[in-house]
Amino acid sequence: VRLFVTKYPDYRIVNLDKLTYAGNLANLKDIEQAENYSFERCDICDYEQVLAIFRKYRIDGVIHLAAESHVDRSIKDPFTFARTNVMGTLSLLQAARVCWNGDWAGKLFYHISTDEVYGDLPLDRPDLFFTEETPIHTSSPYSASKASADLLVQAYHRTFGVPVTISRCSNNYGPYHFPEKLIPLMIANVLNDKPLPVYGDGKNVRDWLYVEDHCRAIDLIIHNGRVGEVYNVGGHNEKTNLEVVQLIIAALGKGEIKFVRDRAGHDRRYAIDPTKIHNELGWLPQTKFEDGIQKTIQWYLDNKSWWENIISGEYQKYYERMYGNR
Ligand code: TYD
Repeated sequence: VRLFVTKYPDYRIVNLDKLTYAGNLANLKDIEQAENYSFERCDICDYEQVLAIFRKYRIDGVIHLAAESHVDRSIKDPFTFARTNVMGTLSLLQAARVCWNGDWAGKLFYHISTDEVYGDLPLDRPDLFFTEETPIHTSSPYSASKASADLLVQAYHRTFGVPVTISRCSNNYGPYHFPEKLIPLMIANVLNDKPLPVYGDGKNVRDWLYVEDHCRAIDLIIHNGRVGEVYNVGGHNEKTNLEVVQLIIAALGKGEIKFVRDRAGHDRRYAIDPTKIHNELGWLPQTKFEDGIQKTIQWYLDNKSWWENIISGEYQKYYERMYGNR
């Protein structure tokens, strides 16, 4: 939202958000007064409200990032994931279809998916990567719900002709990352002198994508991506969880790892082959993990009150439930 509001003053950006536990309007304080920005509090599952917002602003493009995204939560509460990620996507698609009503010129429904729809790769095959042709093969209720959303987006293209694009990104990190995910959770725990809960043996590999690199990819895909196509976003930043946590400990000069019970169904390795987006749109990640993690740690040091406010609230109860007896 910040990138599009500042880079494209001619676009009206409508930010639609339900403001659940991870939603936080303070994240956009710097642009909330911008003339081309509006906020609508809305549950994407509420089809009537979504349709009314489409009509009110005459929406002609959608970047669909609204999702429940935390795998551990999906294991505890799969229903919420199916509802938001599957039914919510369907409601947005239907509103686009009804509102655009066959007049597809200048319209686009762009769905932000995840590399988790491809399942995982074995640790002993570093030669393997996810391409856009890799079959969908999911592991968690989270990835299953995102895969269902992907398929609905493709069905609306094939069946009704709605112009769509899909991108599947690897693990994002950077500023404003909610402190339930690996990197911000570890940074916050180090700074609060709490142990660092590494699941299983810590050898799982993720392909880390700096949030601004992802935003650059979204900008390119919405403007230049081919309708009906899928683009993988990520690559060249594979790290084991232990490597990530050790980098954080080294940067902050303290931190104590505690190995805890593994996540059920824990995916071993994600790794993206970004050849397609590189060849077609000229995108490659620009931020090396070693630089991005330093920038991210610095942001959490400079914005302590942002994440302390989150941790002191409802999130504290979640933390107890998730890690209390792990
Ligand atoms: P996460 O940030 O939840 O993203 P995802 O599961 O979508 O990849 O987790 C990243 C990796 O870190 C994953 O392998 C699980 C692991 N992990 C831990 O070891 N400890 C933790 O407390 C968390 C949240 C994650």
